[in-house]
Amino acid sequence: MSIQQKQTILVTGGCGYIGSHMCVELLSAGYDVVVLDNLSNSSAASIEAVQRITQKPLTFVQGDIRDANCLQAIFTNHDIQAVLHFAGLKAVGESTELPVKYYDNNMNGTLRLVEAMTTASCKTLVFSSSATVYGLPDKMPITEDADTGATNPYGRTKLMVEEVLKDLYTADPTWRISLLRYFNPVGAHATGEIGEDPNDIPNNLMPFIAQVAVGRRDKLSVYGDDYPTPDGTGVRDYIHVVDLVRGHMKALEFLQDEPKLAIHNLGTGNGYSVLEAVQAFERACGITIPYQITGRRPGDVAVSYADPTKAKEELGWEAQYNLDRMCEDAWRWQSQYPNGFNT
Ligand code: NAD
Ligand code: UFG
Repeated sequence: MSIQQKQTILVTGGCGYIGSHMCVELLSAGYDVVVLDNLSNSSAASIEAVQRITQKPLTFVQGDIRDANCLQAIFTNHDIQAVLHFAGLKAVGESTELPVKYYDNNMNGTLRLVEAMTTASCKTLVFSSSATVYGLPDKMPITEDADTGATNPYGRTKLMVEEVLKDLYTADPTWRISLLRYFNPVGAHATGEIGEDPNDIPNNLMPFIAQVAVGRRDKLSVYGDDYPTPDGTGVRDYIHVVDLVRGHMKALEFLQDEPKLAIHNLGTGNGYSVLEAVQAFERACGITIPYQITGRRPGDVAVSYADPTKAKEELGWEAQYNLDRMCEDAWRWQSQYPNGFNT
């Protein structure tokens, strides 16, 4: 099987932050796209924006990945060649309060999806995993063969899905599975027409900074300045969301050669502190970001950044955009749409 232009890709969670950017990339490359999303953490307005940006139509099915009938209808009505599986719940804090909701959505959702794929003989799958599967990493940069572990239920769902997919491949080596471990996706499409639009108070640093800059929040809380890092604040590997989705395009190509299960980090390999991220955002928007230092957030690691060598060597992919560009694009989106898709 080869994935060529005009083939059809199912994007679960395609209305969300990363999924919507994925749809732009796929449509621009000539693929047909079917999106399945239950809109639990997104708006169908993102799909409108994707079609506006690309001037191409896509098929949107509002439904749940845990709904076997819905999945069966999609695979019956469309000749799906591959699935890019973004649908999932991702709030670490909420996952500790509502673990069953996370196991149900992320685990059962993936199980129903691979069952439907098996029935339809569609065996090419790219899964949105996370650097969270490295738990409390003991050396930097993080390579794919580092020990894994989970520090919260969300992280455990990612690790468990990885294990399920490895078992699936062992049982049936005709599958083509890519596990992509994202570091910290930020930024927005260069048009500023789509971007990250958290439902509630943002859990993550960049969307919080962006909402402070646009006047929706008073100030940022910096979670700890006593980490063993140059300025004491946490260090992360921020990656532009467009670079990230281009990594998925390369992963799809990589799966074409032969059946395999592959694991790749998607990160830049560079770590930036919270205060460096604040400064970069200030440069991008020309506004001072007020902040206060507060206590550490439970579960946070001091430093996390990728060794992206394997993705470069095997996928021929590496990130192009630097932190300044990530902030400029995030700001374009946030300033054009201060209230996200509700603006
Ligand atoms: P998002 O919440 O913006 O997108 C996820 C989408 O999935 C949403 O549109 C939501 O409505 C949909 N969805 C959730 N459960 C569903 C279900 N049962 N059926 C159908 N649709 C459902 O999140 P995102 O940032 O775009 O993340 C996409 C994927 O990448 C997730 O699996 C996430 O865990 C993973 N990931 C994200 C990050 C990050 O920092 N953004 C980091 C690592 C991994
Ligand atoms: N931070 C603040 N203030 C905030 C939010 C974050 O100081 O309001 C700090 C954190 O302490 C951390 C850094 O900013 O040092 C980045 O925090 P994020 O919440 O943006 O990102 P994390 O690295 O904690 O986690 C994210 C996702 C996880 C995913 C992980 C790796 O939330 O789901 O990246 O991909 F697993």
